[in-house]
Amino acid sequence: MNPAGFFVAWGTMRVLGIESSCDECAASVVEDGRWVLSNVVATQIPFHAVFDGVVPEIASRKHTEWIYGVVKEALDRAGLGPADLDGVAAVSRPGLLGSLLVGLSFAKGFAWARGLPFIAVNHMLAHLYASRLEDLPALQHTQGSGPAGEPEIPAGASPAPGYPFLGLLVSGGHSIICRVDDFDDITVLGATIDDAVGEAFDKVSKFYGFGYPGGAAIDKLAQAGNPDAFRFPLPNLHKGQHPYDMSYSGLKTAVINQLDRFRSRGGRAPGGNGEGADIAASFQKTAIEILLRSLLRAVHDTGLNTIVAGGGVAANSYLRARLAGLGASPEAGGSLRCVFPPARLCGDNGAMVAGIGCRYLERGETSPFTVSASARVEGFKRKYP
Ligand code: KG4
Ligand code: ZN
Repeated sequence: MNPAGFFVAWGTMRVLGIESSCDECAASVVEDGRWVLSNVVATQIPFHAVFDGVVPEIASRKHTEWIYGVVKEALDRAGLGPADLDGVAAVSRPGLLGSLLVGLSFAKGFAWARGLPFIAVNHMLAHLYASRLEDLPALQHTQGSGPAGEPEIPAGASPAPGYPFLGLLVSGGHSIICRVDDFDDITVLGATIDDAVGEAFDKVSKFYGFGYPGGAAIDKLAQAGNPDAFRFPLPNLHKGQHPYDMSYSGLKTAVINQLDRFRSRGGRAPGGNGEGADIAASFQKTAIEILLRSLLRAVHDTGLNTIVAGGGVAANSYLRARLAGLGASPEAGGSLRCVFPPARLCGDNGAMVAGIGCRYLERGETSPFTVSASARVEGFKRKYP
């Protein structure tokens, strides 16, 4: 980041945020790092679902076709024009290179043409920031592409947690437990050593024939099943050295084998009640327990009793219920506060990018136009106790 070479007016700050790291082409305008004025998410899922996963070439082409319309829609819904903006933020990493380059280059061009500050944002930090965002009360339920009727937290009802806290970043590409000292200062305590948790949901979903992405479909099927019907193995990692690391490849294989056995007896996996739903519920329970085991160990060892979640898997109903239920339990040390973004801001969106972009601007930091896209997460500190 560069120190300020521009003047940030005192008062309202509005930032346009662009996200194009994978298969969502998204843009949003956020005011003062908190209020979501618009949130447009154009999903490419139908174009990738037929291939059971994201096809990078298709993703970057779709971003190129859609980015102008998505940004225009975000400005129109916010009732603003380019002259009303104080900055433009875009995700520069991690993600698919060709996809990242579309949003990043568009943001740079936009900022350059309008003489606006430009901010390159880390996708994972943006996910962690999502829980600090709120809709302006007048705009609630009128925008975005998330689940209808989702209860929103009334504006100002629950103050954003102060730093430090523990972050739980769970998406299709990452499972990270970290100590968070500021919006841009995290220390990775533990991570998956193989598949990400969302990836495990997606692979199991593929086996069910639900296609990509499958987290939400497995979550739904699991609600009709018994989570205690099957006992899947919990990974046994080297706790001494990496006590917060996680692993999902063993669970994924065990679940797929169980589904195979079920099918070989004539069972049909997709559908409502029965063994298919029991397997999904037992898988989901185990997948979330793997996260919680490391997370609660980190709560115990660090003494931090606030957890902030982010990423697509943070929308998972079992994870949300389980963490909410831990609140006052002895298992979690008696007083655990868990903060989630609203479900529609868990997956990839532009609001989390615009929101964190405001914070950099407030600090007077911008990025040079020479910043390029990077596929990898690099840049986070890693800590082993
Ligand atoms: O954060 P995200 O939108 O994209 C990445 O940065 O990866 O996360 C997408 C992941 C996918 O693996 C998807 O299956 C998973 O989040 N996901 C869920 C749920 N909703 C989305 N996983 C479990 N339960 C859900 N309800
Ligand atoms: Zn993401």
